[in-house]
Amino acid sequence: MFNAKLSKAINEQINKEFYSSYLYLAMAAHFDAKALPGFARWMKAQAAEEWEHGMKFYEYLYEVDSSVELKGIDTPPVKFGSPKEIFEQVLEHEKSVTASINAIYELAKKENDPKTELMLHWFITEQVEEEKNARDILDQLEMAGNNSFGIMFLDKHVLGARKGD
Ligand code: FEO
Repeated sequence: MFNAKLSKAINEQINKEFYSSYLYLAMAAHFDAKALPGFARWMKAQAAEEWEHGMKFYEYLYEVDSSVELKGIDTPPVKFGSPKEIFEQVLEHEKSVTASINAIYELAKKENDPKTELMLHWFITEQVEEEKNARDILDQLEMAGNNSFGIMFLDKHVLGARKGD
């Protein structure tokens, strides 16, 4: 029988990953409306990745003979600020996801569940990359400042160059 506390925490994490997907899709919609298709492309790829993260936890629960209990996904914001403000929001959001994964890792250690610790290694590594990506884009947006050519350059050649959607 899989640990009930861990099952609850992983189910909550599934919800957080699906909310992340929804949040980034809302940001994509904002960028599409602002005629910044590169930023929108990046956000759509990120939304797809978050869905995959949720599904990785989903599959894990069945691998360990536990079960998935889906809850409602919160409504993401409709209004967003500048690209820089949005990426500040992305970085803060990713930091909160990192904290949440670290908390499950601590729980797995406390509950003596090495297989869940091991499964979480992938997510811990992934979060380092997620935070770095957001920080790098934020640095580039700071360089661009309010220069619309700078923003358009990033849209076309940096964010728009992201693979997958
Ligand atoms: Fe699923 Fe962006 O962390």
